[in-house]
Amino acid sequence: MKKIIIAIDGYSSSGKSTMARAIAARLGYRYIDSGAMYRAVTLFALRHGMIGADGSVDEAALTAALPEIAIDFRPMADGSQHTLLNGEDVEAQIRTMEVSSHVSAVAAIVPVRHKLVQLQQEFGREKGIVMDGRDIGTTVFPDAELKIYVNASAETRARRRYDELRAKGQDVSYDEVLANVRERDHIDSTRAESPLRRADDAIDLDNSAMTLDEQNAWLCERVRRITGEA
Ligand code: CDP
Repeated sequence: MKKIIIAIDGYSSSGKSTMARAIAARLGYRYIDSGAMYRAVTLFALRHGMIGADGSVDEAALTAALPEIAIDFRPMADGSQHTLLNGEDVEAQIRTMEVSSHVSAVAAIVPVRHKLVQLQQEFGREKGIVMDGRDIGTTVFPDAELKIYVNASAETRARRRYDELRAKGQDVSYDEVLANVRERDHIDSTRAESPLRRADDAIDLDNSAMTLDEQNAWLCERVRRITGEA
C-alpha cells in the first residue's frame, strides 16, 4: 500500500492529537506529536532557570544549550508513546499548565524551531507518518499528501482541555485554561517564524459538533480517497 504523510495542523486543544493517534494506529503509521517536542524544550528551559518570573525567555542561553537537548519518543505497550528529554520520560511533566503557559514563547524562538523542524523532517523520511502541530503542512512537510486544518471555538477547545487536565488530577480552573488557549492562539498565529496558518491545499475540519467517532470516520474517508485504503 502507498505510504503517505498526513499533516494535521490547528489551534491548541482542537483534538488534533486524538485524531492523529487514531489514524496512525489504524494505518500502522508512526505518530509524532510535534507540540510535545516544543513542550520538552520548554521544560528544559524551566529546569535550567532560562525563563524569568515575568515569563521572558533567555534566548541566548537556550540557543547555546540546544546541542545538549535530545528529544525522542518511546512506544508504550498500550500503543501510546512517551516523550523523552535526554533519555528521561517527561510525558507527565510536559503536560502541566506551567509548561503550557511558557511553550508558545519558547516555540517562537527561531533556532528552537530550526532544530525541531529538522528532527521532525527526519522522522518523516520514510513516509508512513502522521504528525500534528502548527506548521506541519506549511513548513515541515509542504509536500504532504494529506493536510488537515482543524478548528473549533476557543470555548469548546478550552472545555476539552479542562476536562482532560481535571481527569489527570490537575488543579486548574476553566477560566485559566480558556485564557491560556486564547493566549497561545494569539502568539502561535502572530509570531514571525512559521506561524500557525492554513496551508493553501489543506482540507478544513471544524469538529466543534463532532464526536470522536465521527471525526475519525471523516479522516479515514479522506485517507481512503488518496491511498484507496484505510
Ligand atoms: O496540545 P495543544 O494543542 O495544546 O498544544 P501542543 O500541540 O502540545 O503544542 C504546544 C505549543 O507548541 C503550541 O501552543 C505552539 O506554541 C507550539 N508548537 C509549535 O509552535 N509548532 C508545532 N508544530 C507544534 C507546537
